[in-house]
Amino acid sequence: MKNQTILITGGTTGIGLATAQLLQADGARVIVTGRNPATLAAARTALGPQAVVLASDAGSLADAQALGAEIKKHTARLDGAFLNAGIAQFGPLETMTPQHFADMFNVNVRGLFFQLQSLLPVLANPSAVVFNASVAGELGLPGTSLYSATKAAVISLGKTLAAELAPRGVRLNTLSPGPVTTPIYNKLGFPADAQKGFEDSMSGQTLVKRFGTADEVARLARFLLTAESSFIVGENIVIDGGIRLT
Ligand SMILES: NC(=O)c1ccc[n+]([C@@H]2O[C@H](COP(=O)([O-])OP(=O)(O)OC[C@H]3O[C@@H](n4cnc5c(N)ncnc54)[C@H](OP(=O)(O)O)[C@@H]3O)[C@@H](O)[C@H]2O)c1
Repeated sequence: MKNQTILITGGTTGIGLATAQLLQADGARVIVTGRNPATLAAARTALGPQAVVLASDAGSLADAQALGAEIKKHTARLDGAFLNAGIAQFGPLETMTPQHFADMFNVNVRGLFFQLQSLLPVLANPSAVVFNASVAGELGLPGTSLYSATKAAVISLGKTLAAELAPRGVRLNTLSPGPVTTPIYNKLGFPADAQKGFEDSMSGQTLVKRFGTADEVARLARFLLTAESSFIVGENIVIDGGIRLT
């Protein structure tokens, strides 16, 4: 991937960071975004001076709309973008508040949509865009209603925008992970025993009886970002350990 510049939103931890490290090892120049100052600093250390690490809050409309201009300060063109930043807040219907609704839709859907819009002037022809949705967007997992709805929206956007952007040489695909070990599960605010119960239940629902790793998803993201997948357009590729079949 020499001479390729790839943006990864939410590239400071988890799947995003694993993808940035994999692409970097293949010779790409990576630009990653995040919001939390501590994880931004840790990512700067992990990725080294050759990477660009930007503070850009996907939940802020102004930041999302300014992302393309920010990127232009660092590169004339992007060969690929992995729009991966996302948050999860789980709970049954009666516990979900308008704040949960706004937070998840603002980051997972509005942020991704207006980030992509702002990137149009900087995306090369040809280039590849990958959305990170979730298999939850296709399932009916109790306690995940709002999160799953945001991911169903991302899957839908992935199809429509793939058709819209193909004439510009932008090849867009979506990937949908099942349960993957990342810091996202530490941010759910569950008590430790409830979190363990949730994770055991999710593992048990896969055919391989385990969580995936961030690296396994990063390899799929890399495939979709490169010409290796040049005839795959507008797809939603599920990487879930078989959870949909159980
Ligand atoms: N792990 C799973 O089981 C799983 C399954 C299906 C889909 N996914 C999706 O995979 C994506 C990555 O999640 P992950 O599991 O790797 O979790 P993670 O380790 O929590 O990573 C989330 C990344 O997004 C960033 N982020 C969150 N809110 C942001 C905001 N408002 N502005 C900018 N950056 C923000 C985080 O940065 P900060 O540290 O700055 O917040 C971090 O870099 C998400 O879209 C998630 O929904 C995950």
